[in-house]
Parts: sequence; C-alpha cells; structure tokens
Amino acid sequence: MKFFIDTANLNEIREAYDLGVLDGVTTNPSLMAKEGIKGEENIRAHYKAICNIVDDNVSAEVIATDLDGILKEGRELAKIDDKIVVKVPMIKDGVKALKIFASEGIRTNCTLVFTAGQAILAAKAGADFVSPFIGRLDDVATDGLELIAQIRHIYDNYGYETEILAASIRHVMHLIKCAEIGADVATCPLSVITGLLKHPLTDIGLEKFLSDHRKLNK
Ligand code: E4P
Repeated sequence: MKFFIDTANLNEIREAYDLGVLDGVTTNPSLMAKEGIKGEENIRAHYKAICNIVDDNVSAEVIATDLDGILKEGRELAKIDDKIVVKVPMIKDGVKALKIFASEGIRTNCTLVFTAGQAILAAKAGADFVSPFIGRLDDVATDGLELIAQIRHIYDNYGYETEILAASIRHVMHLIKCAEIGADVATCPLSVITGLLKHPLTDIGLEKFLSDHRKLNK
C-alpha cells in the first residue's frame, strides 16, 4: 500500500518523508489556502517546493470547472515537474479532460468521488488515481469504507488499472481497514501516519527494557 500525505504544509511533508515511508502528497485548494498560498506564481512555486521534497506523486488540483480551463490549467501544472499528478474534479468536463490528459501522457487523480458509478467513469476515462472520500461520507451517515470495498470489487472484475486512492481519512482504523480491503493508496494527515507507530504496550515494554538495563549498567 502506498502512503500519501494530505497536506500542503512543507514541514509536515518533510517529517513524513524523513520517516522513509512516504510515496506522495495530495493537496487541494483548501489545504493550499490553509498555508496562505495565493497567486499563480506562489502556487506554482509551492508545488515545486513540494516536488523537491518527495520522490513522486504530487497531486495539484485545477480550479477551473470548464473543459478548456481544466485542460489549460492541468497542462500548466504538469509542466511544473514530472512528479505532478493533475487533480481533476468528478464533473462532466472533468471526465472529458481525464481522457484527453491520458492521451497526452499527463497523470491524473480524479477527486471528489462519492459513488461507485463515479469511480467507474473515472477508470473508463483513464484516470491514474481515483479519490473516494471516506470521512466525508461517514460524516453524512454513509459507510465510506463500504465504498472502497465496492470500488475494489468492480475494478478487479474488469482489470481497471486506476489506483484506488482512499482519501478523507480521519483516523488510524480508516487506514488499516483500507489496507485490508486492498486500496492501492491511502492519503492521510501526518497524525494518522505517525498514529500507526503508537501502542501503550510498546511504550510500557520499552520503558521496562530500558529500566532493567539501567539497573545493571549504572
Ligand atoms: C484528498 O485528496 C483530499 O485532499 C482530502 O483527503 C480531503 O479530506 P477532508 O475530507 O479531510 O478535507
């Protein structure tokens, strides 16, 4: 399973990368805004800075919602660095753009996916990644993990190569369940990645080992 970090914060990206387990980054306009990144030049520079930290897979989202705009913006984003994956919303012109980007060799991540039908469309249009939002479905009393399982089943039925990128992950159990189901990628906040480290018995066990060692090695 690949791990992406869902943030535009450079320090958090560096911290996750230094752990040695990071395969990519997802951003979105809200995450960019949270870092105070505004203006075309600053946004491009920020994506470049992210690309300079990680090895591959930096999702950069288009703002346009019409076909011409999505294509123009996506092509510009793709020029920033070979690591860029153009993030395109699941709307009619977005689906058209996915197909065109695929024919141009521009990698894409289809975002804001909430149903299996949308995931089928994304795969048929040639998206490299599809991003179903688990947490936001859970927020409206719908089982987000069930959607991941449904998409896994459908993609396996037809051998679709689009990678399932489980998004809007809120806690460690979301991530573990996604791994059980067979999501290809999980994108999550740093707290979820570092949360995988934690167990009280690990802390208690380590403290005991170290204190036993100290007793004999004063
Ligand atoms: C995915 O690419 C999105 O950026 C993200 O996972 C959305 O998560 P949220 O629902 O926590 O905003």
